[in-house]
Amino acid sequence: MLDKQYIIKLLQLSGEKRTKLLQRSKEIKEETVGKKVYFRGLVEFSNICSKDCLYCGIRKSNTNVVRYQATDEEILDACRFAWKNNFASVVLQSGEISSLAFIKRVDGLLKKIKQLSNNELGITLSCGEQSKDTYKRWFESGAHRFLLRIESSNRDLYYKIHPENDKHSFKKRIEALGFLKETGYQVGTGVMVGLPFQTYADLANDLLFFKQLDIDMCGMGPYIEHEDTPLYQYQNQLKTKQERFDLTLNMIAVLRLMMPDINIAAATALQAIDPAGREKALSVGANIIMPNLTPCDYRKEYQLYEDKPCLDEDAELCRNCLEARIELAGSEIGYGEWGDSKHFYKRKS
Ligand code: 5AD
Ligand code: FES
Repeated sequence: MLDKQYIIKLLQLSGEKRTKLLQRSKEIKEETVGKKVYFRGLVEFSNICSKDCLYCGIRKSNTNVVRYQATDEEILDACRFAWKNNFASVVLQSGEISSLAFIKRVDGLLKKIKQLSNNELGITLSCGEQSKDTYKRWFESGAHRFLLRIESSNRDLYYKIHPENDKHSFKKRIEALGFLKETGYQVGTGVMVGLPFQTYADLANDLLFFKQLDIDMCGMGPYIEHEDTPLYQYQNQLKTKQERFDLTLNMIAVLRLMMPDINIAAATALQAIDPAGREKALSVGANIIMPNLTPCDYRKEYQLYEDKPCLDEDAELCRNCLEARIELAGSEIGYGEWGDSKHFYKRKS
């Protein structure tokens, strides 16, 4: 088990020693979860959000965003595309809403997605904090993975990037992660890297938090400032984008050493900094990628951060583009396979 001081050292590596770390992570990945990269078709089905996270472009108070809700037909079409193209899994993501109408809607969608794909499509949800009953209901209707990033495992930092109130409670977020595990989901969490006020010790603690929580999946991307958010005022205090990018790759590499058999996503935010960002993550420790299937008209209204890629490319273009990039990077796509977290099955048995 790596200790905190050693993790901090690894996160700070540069030059040749860093290259060695990244190389080791790649080897461990290939030995443990294999060379394949798995697709999760991402459908950002609504940007309506009841929360006001201080970093996020679709926060409730941002009135520059046109709010949308994709229709059932649009969502099901995107899922059908994923199924026909052998993606094997989709991720349904949205702003956080906990009304009964929303809960029912997601429930209905889950059943319809299972139906249209002969029960073949795997479904991951990324719809924020919900009650235990809601998580249970959605699980029974067909969702089997859930993504809920902790954003930062340091309570003080958490409240520097979220308003400190009941709606944004650190305690409730931790509880929600517990509910997800108890319900039986494969649980994914993660953090943003390069946040204002964030230290190397914070990041080391984030990795230890993942280990302690015994997560199945992880998504970590660089923090990218968004002009219409309160955190933008600290833009001059940030590491450069390149530094945030490099540090994110170090985080992925160290996590792969610590938790060799989990699934780690190549976050889309990496590509907002480097055009080959996601492939670079795949050639380090990541093994999951999320091609965007959101209907094109909505994409510009789902900009959590600036320079989000693929705004004009439709599902077909993103698929072709990613396929070419992944093959160029020397990996193979696990078409038609769920590519579930190996860690999850070990933890269950
Ligand atoms: N920069 C980078 N990532 C962000 N997210 C939200 N806003 C930003 C931002 N400004 C991430 C959060 C969230 C995920 C869906 O997107 O970590 O969990
Ligand atoms: Fe969308 Fe390349 S992945 S354009």
